[in-house]
Amino acid sequence: MQRQALSWRRQGLKIGFVPTMGYLHAGHVSLIRRARRAVGAAGRVVVSIYVNPTQFAPTEDLSKYPRDLAGDLERCREAGADAVLVPNDASMYPGRDEGRYSTYVVEERLTRRMEGESRPTHFRGVTTVVAKLFLLVQPAVAVFGAKDWQQASVIRRMVADLCFPVRVIVAPTVRERDGLAMSSRNKYLDSDQRTQATVLWRALQLVSARVREAAGRGVPVGRLQREVAKLVAKESQARLDYVAFFHPETLEPVTRVGAGVRVALAVYVGATRLIDNAGV
Ligand code: PAF
Repeated sequence: MQRQALSWRRQGLKIGFVPTMGYLHAGHVSLIRRARRAVGAAGRVVVSIYVNPTQFAPTEDLSKYPRDLAGDLERCREAGADAVLVPNDASMYPGRDEGRYSTYVVEERLTRRMEGESRPTHFRGVTTVVAKLFLLVQPAVAVFGAKDWQQASVIRRMVADLCFPVRVIVAPTVRERDGLAMSSRNKYLDSDQRTQATVLWRALQLVSARVREAAGRGVPVGRLQREVAKLVAKESQARLDYVAFFHPETLEPVTRVGAGVRVALAVYVGATRLIDNAGV
């Protein structure tokens, strides 16, 4: 991959990159199309498909994470990708099983709260694999989904801090008709859970409505947290992990919520942990 990428770059071709963990859906397709728009018809669009083990805790869903390589390759072709990188663990983390792999990339500030608090080793895995993928794919542009808002912010920080010559684009979340954000993990939901899972979207809308009603005065975070907790508690299979209100770039928590603030939440629906976020 790296040889091919360097050769493309020597020819003056711009590379657009979409890193994924596969099981591609319409959300991923929109990222691939966004990468194509960014590099133009003459550029090269690369998609990676790799279920990265270092971003999963031992208790998480690594081994049962959904996979469909044949379907993914078809979707990449349809979306206009030029190349798909499908690395294996031995090439990404040489010697890891024998304890020899020992180099990681760690962002130390933006990763402390929200997903980082609930999943303490998660972002170290993400920043490490994305840094490695950037070195393999040599992109001028990389596209990430807004659904993982904190991840996108952490990647932007890493790119700035480590001087990666990569422009990061964050593309809008693609939703099902009832508002549920598209995610490969939605596959885990049975039909009852699938219905209850719209509570994430309903919670985001509730927050926006409360902020609108306050007409510029802002709403105290505690009140919104209580309302969201109450809404989630009404669903028999849903359990709120966190709801957080923060500045969209610094991710610093706020105490009053008004226009420009971002809200993110994580909810277990049955055993499946779903996340979503929105601007208010
Ligand atoms: O968002 C994801 O699918 C993953 O975290 C990523 C960026 C592909 C890294 O493994």
